[in-house]
Amino acid sequence: MNRTLPQRGPAKEIPPLLSTTLNMPGCDARGWVVVDRVVDGLAMGGTRMTTAVTEPELAGLARAMTQKLALVGLPIGGAKAGIRPGPADAGDRPRLMRAFGRAAAPLLHGGVYLGCDQGTTYADRQLAFEAAGYDITRRTGTTRLTVGWSELWNHMADITGFGVAVAVLGALRAAGTRAPQRIVIQGFGTVGRAVAHHLAARGHRVVAVADVRGTVEDPRGLPVTELIALTDGDGTIDRTRLPATVRMHGSERAWLHLGADVLVLAASAGAVDEDAVPAARAGTVVEGGNMSCTGPARRLLRESGHVVLPDVVVNVGGAAATGCVLAGLAPSDLPLPRLSAWLRAWISDRITRNCELVQELAASGSTDPVAQLLASSGALRPSVTAAGP
Ligand SMILES: NC(=O)c1ccc[n+]([C@@H]2O[C@H](COP(=O)([O-])OP(=O)(O)OC[C@H]3O[C@@H](n4cnc5c(N)ncnc54)[C@H](O)[C@@H]3O)[C@@H](O)[C@H]2O)c1
Repeated sequence: MNRTLPQRGPAKEIPPLLSTTLNMPGCDARGWVVVDRVVDGLAMGGTRMTTAVTEPELAGLARAMTQKLALVGLPIGGAKAGIRPGPADAGDRPRLMRAFGRAAAPLLHGGVYLGCDQGTTYADRQLAFEAAGYDITRRTGTTRLTVGWSELWNHMADITGFGVAVAVLGALRAAGTRAPQRIVIQGFGTVGRAVAHHLAARGHRVVAVADVRGTVEDPRGLPVTELIALTDGDGTIDRTRLPATVRMHGSERAWLHLGADVLVLAASAGAVDEDAVPAARAGTVVEGGNMSCTGPARRLLRESGHVVLPDVVVNVGGAAATGCVLAGLAPSDLPLPRLSAWLRAWISDRITRNCELVQELAASGSTDPVAQLLASSGALRPSVTAAGP
């Protein structure tokens, strides 16, 4: 494995290529698009809709997208859109999404793909694309699909969690671990549920999961399929119908203190900070969500002997699948099951390889393995191939 990757020197901050305000007539909302980099005429990222989203937050997320895409070797820059709805927008979400689509249309048509992120659904994305007159499947250079974009994504909704599970399985393999492991998952949304499904399917025991209301636990293993059926679209578990064997913990961060071999973080940023590190019991900590650990917590965890699998390496499944199609890397005209299998194999290969590199670098004393990988990928260089006229 390559142990001679460069250490990142004092990073010179490179500003985003473009940061723009969107005007959405008839709506109260504020909106922005930040394009961190354009590579080969393309940039991509999700659209975050929260009442607190800010332009600087989007700039950080767009940069993280650039890093994720570079780490898997996709020639696409990172971007992010944000919508902060106003009080008058609450009653008419379709109007808001259409207004967003119309405002973002020049960017979409110019090569900046804006998909889903926190607070936006596939249905929202579809409304925005229709209002923009944008159909990714008709874009020159994009993989030709045998199904519509929505149908592909209904089939691939688990892909980010699938990639996180692949990272966990790779880390266990690298450690020579064959026995079923005890898994705790913080966050039971799109990502957390898919991780639970894929790890349970490989024989591991999901002993606890947490949502915004607390932690549910069964040391003998939770019934994952049943639990998923009891969970709503926001990732909240219906406690009234849980099997009697399940214990409930209401205290914040109860998930951190439970006996586990692997802790998957799949909720919000900063779930594990420096104060939390001494209580972490799992030997392997996996950042399924974005920035699940603070930087200092990541370092402290490594120093105290935990394996840490970082966000930009493990939670890239959704971005990578979109990117493979957008850049025309995935083969054209495959029936859906074969396209899905191709994308899963490609994503597994990249995530497994990057996790191995991160672990090799950490084992050889690197304090920031991701920075070293990024430096070797060129993602920190300001080189940009601008979109055509
Ligand atoms: N969905 C994707 O494809 C994707 C891709 C890349 C990164 N991410 C990141 O992964 C994370 C999870 O994404 P998601 O799509 O699953 O979100 P989601 O909104 O579907 O689910 C979030 C889950 O976290 C739980 N939660 C919220 N606060 C919590 C707390 N304090 N303690 C415990 N649980 C809490 C919620 O109850 C819910 O179960 C986010 O950071 C997101 O940005 C998601």
